[in-house]
This record gives sequence, C-alpha cells and structure tokens, in this order.
Amino acid sequence: MFYEPRNQDHGLPKNPFNSLVIPRPVGWISSVDRDGVFNLAPYSFFNAVCYRPPTVMFSAGASSADDRFKDTSRNVETTGEFVCNLATWELKEQMNLSSATLPPKTDEIALAGLTPIGATLVKAPRIAEAPVQLECKYLKTVLIPGWDNGDEYKVIFGEVIGIHIDDAIITETGLIDVAKMMPIGRLGYNDYARVDASSTFTMERPK
Ligand SMILES: Cc1cc2nc3c(=O)[nH]c(=O)nc-3n(C[C@H](O)[C@H](O)[C@H](O)COP(=O)(O)O)c2cc1C
Repeated sequence: MFYEPRNQDHGLPKNPFNSLVIPRPVGWISSVDRDGVFNLAPYSFFNAVCYRPPTVMFSAGASSADDRFKDTSRNVETTGEFVCNLATWELKEQMNLSSATLPPKTDEIALAGLTPIGATLVKAPRIAEAPVQLECKYLKTVLIPGWDNGDEYKVIFGEVIGIHIDDAIITETGLIDVAKMMPIGRLGYNDYARVDASSTFTMERPK
C-alpha cells in the first residue's frame, strides 16, 4: 500500500505511522516549574542526537485537553533544565501512570509513587528508581508547524551535562549491562518492547 499522510487516506483503523518508526526509546522527563512543583512525563518522540556534546531531544505536542503546550516543554523553556530518566521494564506501570493528562500543578512523581532526589547540576529532580538519569541543560526549541491551527510540536534539545548510572548495571568488564537494565521501547498503539538477554545480538562492523 501507499498513502500520503496529509490526505489521511491509509484506510486502516489506526494511524500506522506511530508503528513504523520503532522501537522508540522512552525519554522519561522530570522537570520543575517556577514555583518548585515537580513534573514527570514520558516522551517517545525522543532520542540522543550526538556524542560531543552528548545531546538529547524530545518532541512535545500541544495538549489535546485545552490546546496548550505540555507542562514539560513549558517547564524546560522556563527553567532551562530537565532530567531524562530511563524507563525500564520494572518501572513500566509508573511510567504509564505519569502520562495521565493532569492539571499543571500536579506532581506526577508523587502520583506514581516514585522518589524524587536532588540532581547534582540542575534543579529538576531525578527519579531515584530509574537506573540511569541524564541531567540536561536546555539548548533550543525547534517549532514544527502542524496542518491545522494550534496543532504544532515543540522539538526541545538539551545538552547532557551530568550522567548518573546505577553501578548495578555496569558489568565486571565495565560495559553497560543492557539485559540487566531492561529498557522498554515504544512500538506505537499501546504496544511496547522489552530489551532483555534473549532479544539482543552482536555484529562486527565491516572494516
Ligand atoms: C510511552 C508514551 C510516550 C509518549 N510520547 C509522547 C511524545 O513523544 N510527545 C508528546 O507530546 N506526548 C507523548 N506522550 C503523552 C504525554 O506523556 C502526556 O501527554 C503527558 O500528560 C504530558 O505531560 P506533561 O504535560 O506533564 O508534560 C507519551 C505517552 C506515553 C505513555
């Protein structure tokens, strides 16, 4: 089949695009607003985009509830900081809970029963339960215009200025033990993948 997304004529019960660029890592972004209220939400339009300096991005849409941008993007643009926590198999339920559409002054960290702990270089909290936390400094926003008025995305870039790794997920030879960490990836719809020992393989790159 072939379809042009702008015509929305794929003829399928659900938009297939969400399930075509997969698996997507889940950036679980914690931030704080001007008044010190914590915020946490998952973003799967998320990725690392370069090594030096290590840089990540996530893309926040206008909220369908009242056509405003999401709390995370507002907090990051206001305070200039955020933390990206790794979403894992063990934390999947809490991750899902933190995606609920809630009023701005709701602390999703408390709502999900998670533990906020201080970061080293930024004011945004870290999630103690997450085995990896990236402390980020806001770099810039790229606005992606939508097809309709008010339907737009803010792609937010941040430089990773501090990295916390749980020693328990570092192997004896000093590598990250991905199978132990068990990150989850988004497959579109409400589906996810788990990375574990049975789902990884190694390949040498050609010379
Ligand atoms: C796994 C997962 C991934 C998500 N990815 C995104 C995303 O990339 N962009 C987005 O705008 N919303 C995404 N959402 C929805 C947001 O998490 C949700 O709208 C949340 O309430 C936003 O919270 P905030 O307003 O506190 O930032 C995702 C939800 C889930 C469960």
